Amino acid sequence: MFLIWGLLVTAALANANDLVGTWTTKSRDVLTGPGFYDPLNDKLLEPNLTGISYSFDDDGNYESAYYRAISNPVDPSCPGGIMQWQHGSYTVFGNGTLILTPIAVDGRQLLSDPCRQQSGQYTRYNTTEEFKEFSVYIDKFNRIKRLDLTKFDGSLVHPMFLAYQPPKMLPTTTLNPMPTGHKQKRELSSKESGVYLVAREQLVNPDRWWWLGVLMTSLGGVAFFCS
Ligand SMILES: *[C@@H]1O[C@H](CO)[C@@H](O)[C@H](O)[C@H]1NC(C)=O
Ligand SMILES: *[C@@H]1O[C@H](CO)[C@@H](O)[C@H](O)[C@H]1NC(C)=O
Ligand SMILES: *[C@@H]1O[C@H](CO)[C@@H](O)[C@H](O)[C@H]1NC(C)=O
Repeated sequence: MFLIWGLLVTAALANANDLVGTWTTKSRDVLTGPGFYDPLNDKLLEPNLTGISYSFDDDGNYESAYYRAISNPVDPSCPGGIMQWQHGSYTVFGNGTLILTPIAVDGRQLLSDPCRQQSGQYTRYNTTEEFKEFSVYIDKFNRIKRLDLTKFDGSLVHPMFLAYQPPKMLPTTTLNPMPTGHKQKRELSSKESGVYLVAREQLVNPDRWWWLGVLMTSLGGVAFFCS
């Protein structure tokens, strides 16, 4: 009886160690690390599909990558896109709250609105993220580790699945120390000419992902049956 109670308590309390790894939403196309942000050329690299990825290491460092479409209510055939990248440190409090504090000078955002602006707007990005709680468990359909993050308003971030362990991350130290003089100006207001985020997204048939889900689920079922 005590043993069962103990297991239940363990399952309910979020443990910072459970976070360690690289997590990504189901398209699996957005992943933290050098494939998303190139710090040498200070450039965000556009993935084929939208998604979110977070990485956590066991030293308290995190990295996040976002790529989302922005619908255009005026002209639905002309969606924009946004890419955001940050890294810094994370803290898990005793009450289960998770706070991500970025290295302010390193974060980057690329905002693209092809029908209104010729080029994407590339800027610094610095936003602290707070999650009321998180949970890590084995997803019953995919049979892989899943991370759910709950925001302070109670809404859930899209579920993410474990992609790498140990995590795939860029160096966790400051990558872009505050530049001095004229270099800072260039960096902050640089325009990416001809960047049209999300253009390629439309070429991909979303049904593909549904079929992949069916396939993974049945493979999972077979593995379970055989074991
Ligand atoms: C995007 O898709 C193309 C063709 O399928 C592939 O060659 C390329 O590696 C993909 N890029 C990324 C960033 O996944
Ligand atoms: C948990 O504690 C942290 C640090 O004291 C606080 O910032 C956060 O708001 C608390 N979370 C909840 C859900 O009250
Ligand atoms: C980054 O954001 C934090 C919290 O909002 C703020 O205190 C800090 O001044 C910002 N830093 C920069 C360089 O913008």
